[in-house]
Formats: sequence, structure tokens, C-alpha cells
Amino acid sequence: MPKRFYTTTAIYYVNSAPHIGSAQEAVIADVVARFQRMLRGDAYFLTGTDENATKVFEAAQASGKDPHRFVDEVAGEFKRVFDAMHLSYDDFIRTTEDRHISVVQEVFRRLQESGYIYKGEYEGWYDVRTETFYKESELVDGKSPEGNDVRWVKEENYFFKLSAFQDKILAHIEANPEFILPEVRKNEVVSFINQGLRDACITRASTGWGIPVPGDESQVIYVWFDALINYISAIGWPDGNWQEFWPADMQLVGKDILVRFHATLWPAMLMGLRLPLPKTLVGHGWTLMGQEKISKSTGNVVAPLDLAQTLVDRNACDLDLAVDAVRYYMMRIAPYESDSTFTFDDFDLKFNTELVNDISNGIHRVISMTHSFCEGVIPNGRIDRNVADQVQAIANGFEDAMARYRVDEASAKIPAIASVLNQLIDTEKPWELKKNADPRLDDVMVTLAYIVRAIEGLLRPIAPVLADRICGLLNLPPTERWEQIGALDALPANHAIQKPTPLLVRLEKQQKEQHKMDTKLQPSEDVISIEDFMKVKLQIARVLDAHKVEGADKLLRLELIVGEERRQVLAGIAQQYSPEDVIGRQVVLVANLAPRKLRGFESQGMILAADAEDGGAILLMPDKEAPEGTSVH
Ligand code: MSP
Repeated sequence: MPKRFYTTTAIYYVNSAPHIGSAQEAVIADVVARFQRMLRGDAYFLTGTDENATKVFEAAQASGKDPHRFVDEVAGEFKRVFDAMHLSYDDFIRTTEDRHISVVQEVFRRLQESGYIYKGEYEGWYDVRTETFYKESELVDGKSPEGNDVRWVKEENYFFKLSAFQDKILAHIEANPEFILPEVRKNEVVSFINQGLRDACITRASTGWGIPVPGDESQVIYVWFDALINYISAIGWPDGNWQEFWPADMQLVGKDILVRFHATLWPAMLMGLRLPLPKTLVGHGWTLMGQEKISKSTGNVVAPLDLAQTLVDRNACDLDLAVDAVRYYMMRIAPYESDSTFTFDDFDLKFNTELVNDISNGIHRVISMTHSFCEGVIPNGRIDRNVADQVQAIANGFEDAMARYRVDEASAKIPAIASVLNQLIDTEKPWELKKNADPRLDDVMVTLAYIVRAIEGLLRPIAPVLADRICGLLNLPPTERWEQIGALDALPANHAIQKPTPLLVRLEKQQKEQHKMDTKLQPSEDVISIEDFMKVKLQIARVLDAHKVEGADKLLRLELIVGEERRQVLAGIAQQYSPEDVIGRQVVLVANLAPRKLRGFESQGMILAADAEDGGAILLMPDKEAPEGTSVH
């Protein structure tokens, strides 16, 4: 069996439910796993919960619950949120499971037998919040370097000979430039190790919570020593088929737990067990709320599903798409070298500009025009080579970024490809090609559909449901293999697609701007109040199709799309405009006019036109494209 691509996240303390910061790490790992499955057909993704910590026990006590019930509930909440966030994990390990406990005890035994664990007395400070031991000299104003309260601990404990591995770890880092990414983190690790590694205290006096030291029930194993082992206990070390997975290809953790734990203690433990080290440790930065750390005590915690729900409540999309929008945003701001900032305004902005305007509306225009100009069938034209080169370069850029696990750079390729799509529409103006019966129309339309197909492929690791919905519109199965993205044969010839339905709808401003009224203006017969005017619902609509009406030489029957709705409107413009003149154009619709029958057709609204001097009509069209459904005032 060839070795599988194996990726992990940190395991999460179950003292509280996941927030957008902690969930972001799991989504990054999910994007890596989904990308690898497309690239090489395989990936194994492990995540889970860290349950034996003192702070977890204290959180259980504070909630008045039995600790076992408490950790079951919170771990269940993590799973529920992770499932709803479309995380494709293959295994979810909990450190209170027997399969983990027995392996931790086995590691302890083996390291003790090889002389790497010895008994001694520990005296020093302990930070419960980060579950870290500190020397007196490391404290800052009597607190831990993270600013947390510390407790004095004096105990008979077991120690792990971390100091014995200092040179070996440094040599490994030196010899393997990809061991710690990004570069800044490697430097942090090296300077920490260069200060000297001291032996690590790896047990605590038992308070009845934690994994007992084998042969000494008075002690429990230090939670970090226990937790790190999850990466091998979950894959069946030492008796199962762990060699299919180990060494891990990518272990993703925050910068806070890289230096002391994943890049020092963990490699030393593995070396002590004579196991190979993971290929790459990625130490990401933090996502802050504005300028602040996300924390319960600051009261600025945003749960990822609550954030998704706000999109549903604001009528932007359904919950599954909303989750993908949150995933997309998390990837666009994924922190690596430095920390990044979450703000609601930026979330709205990226949703509206990138996901709605660029992606959803761009795709909607292509699907609508394919129906209006090509009878709903992607024509058998020639894909523009220049465009194909651009698309392939973007896909290659995505792949390069993912080879370095940079989902931030990879996700930035989505607006880039959307701009190729929208620019092509704007420069080629398919409605004019149609109007002029230009034979290039087929080439342009197939090229547009080709870009939509590539967008679907690139979005798939980041926003799998959104990608599925695009497949629904294209009437095609999902892109499964990475190499299919941008392939010239990615679209079957003469392929019929589905009817246009917008994927996402723009978010309106949270607080409607106050409309100022001129108080001096007195109502008179000619004057209506702003309230009266506001009763008229004017919206941007696009003409999808237009037909002459038999026996009525002034009427055109228009098929419009407005927001998510389709409307049929009869307009008295046939003497000035032919169907080809208006198909694909945007107009202003009076959307809340009572429907009425004209020549046997129901007219569901009215489109605005000015009266020409000759009594004809001059259609009002927006000065530039706006998403269909946009309000007009
Ligand atoms: N239980 C330990 C990890 C043990 S791994 C063997 C732990 N848990 S944690 O719940 O505090 O953090 C889990 C992960 O979430 C860490 O990698 C941490 O960096 C990450 N994040 C927590 N808050 C975060 C942000 N605000 N932003 C990005 N990641 C953050 O540490």
C-alpha cells in the first residue's frame, strides 16, 4: 500500500465551543485535504479534541457537570459544527478514548525503558490557561509570557530528557528547509532552541482527571505529552497499519503552540521512539477580532455557524452556501506570517464584491446568455487559446500556493479567474455578437462556459457546495481531478445546461441609510411624499429573451430575470427595438405593479422608457451593469 497523504490539525481544548479563529485552522486543513484528494486522489485528514487538560476539568467543574458528560457534550458540539462546516475529516480523535489512552501509556513505557524518562522533583510555575510550565526567569511581571496568572507547583514528577535532543532537532531543521513553514516561524523555533532546551516535566500529581502514569497511579501524564500522541494513536501506532500514514505530510498548528510543543517536544518524543518526523509543520498566525484576541473573557467570540446564519437571515443564500461563504472568507484572510483581522464590514464587502458580483453574477450572466443566445446549449465553438492560457496559469498558481500550504494565496486566485470571466463578457459583448449575427458568438460563449467550469474546479476545495451548485447549473458532474481544471476538453460538445438561477444575492446595508426630506416642501397636487415614491418598487432586471407578439405590432414580450425571479413583461417598444436589440440588456423594472393581461399574455410589471418626440419609446438602461434585483431609487 503506498503511503497516504496525511494531514492533521491541533486538537481542540473542549473548555468551550469552536469560534471563527479555531474553526479557521480546521477549514485550512480541510482545504488542503480536499485539494490533495483532487491532485493525487488521496488524503487522510485527522482532527479531534484535547480533553485531559486541567482547564477542561475546571470548566466542567464550573459548569457543575460530571466531567465525562461535559467533555462528551463539548466534543459533540465540535463534531456538529465541523460537520456543518463541510469538514471532510476522516477521523476525529478524542483523548479520553481508550484507543488513545493505551497508546499514551505505551509511549511512556517505551521512553522510560530507553532511559528518556526519569523521576525528579519539579518546582516552578504553571500556567493553566496554556497548560505550560515556566521558570521564574520567564515570567513577566509575575505572569506568564502570555499574560496569564500562574500557580506555584512543587511536585515529585517524571521528566523527559528533552535536552538530549536539542542538537538533533536543530540539525533536522537545518537539513530540511520544508520542516517548518513559513520561514518566520522557523526562525522563532531556532532562536527558542538556541536558548537551550531543558528537560520537560511530563507528569502532574493526580487530581483524578487525566491519563494515569503506567505503574504509578499517583501521577497523571502532562496534557501536552498526552495530546501530541494523538497524531499517532489515531492511525494505529504501534500495532496497526500506521505506516500507511506516518510520517504526516503536513501538521497545521497555531504559532502559539508551535515553538514549545510541535517543533521541540514532539520531534524529541518521536526521535526517542525512533519514529520519523513529520515532513512539514505549518505554524499559522492568529485571526483577531479587530485588534483583539478572540476570547470568551473579551466577549468577542463569533461562532462560525452563527456567522453563516446571518447570511441566511439577510436573504443572501441558504445555510449550506452560507457556510461555504464563511469558509471562503476564512481562506481569504488565513493568517500565515502575520495575524489577520476579522471584521463584519470586510466580511460583507468580500461577500458582495467577490462572491456575489464577481462569481455569482458573472456565472449568472453566462448561464442567462447561453439560454438567450444559444437555446440553453453550450455551442460547439473554439475555446480562445489566450483565455485558456490565462486560466491554466491561474490554476498552476493555485497549485504552487497549495504545495506550500498557502490557502491565502490559493484562494486569491478565485477573484483573479472571476475577473477573466467578467472582462471577457464586457469586451466581447455577446449580445452585440448576437445582434450582428456574428459567427464568433459560438466561440465566445463556449469560452465563457469553459471559464465557469474552471471556476467550479478551483472553488471545489474551498467551497464544495458552491462548486456543486455551479455543476448543477452547468449540468455536469463535479471536477474530480485537478488536472481536469482548464483542460480544453472539460466541456462536452453541444451540451445543454440548466436554467439560470442566481447562486448568491447581494447583502443590503445592515442599517438602511436615513433618507433626508426637505421639510420646507409642502405637499401639493404635483408633489408626492418620499413615502409614496418609495412604494414603487424599481429594480434592475436583465432581458433574457424577447419575442414579437402576433397581431400587436407595438408589443414585445420580454422574459426578464430580477433577483432570483423570472418575470414576463409586455412592453410597447416593438417599433423602436427588435428582440435582438434588447436580449442580454439590463433595464429598469417596476416590480410591484399589479399584473394584467395583454393580448392573452400576463404582463408582470412594466419597464421604464422615456417618451420620444415622435411618440416612440427610449428604453432606460443602467449606465453600467448592476446585479439583477438591485433596487433603483
Ligand atoms: N489543545 C491544544 C493543542 C494540542 S495539539 C496536540 C490547543 N488547543 S486550542 O483549542 O487552544 O487551540 C487549537 C488550535 O486553534 C491552535 O492551533 C490554535 O493556534 C488555534 N487557534 C485558536 N484561536 C485562534 C485564532 N483566533 N486564530 C487562528 N487560530 C487560532 O492549543
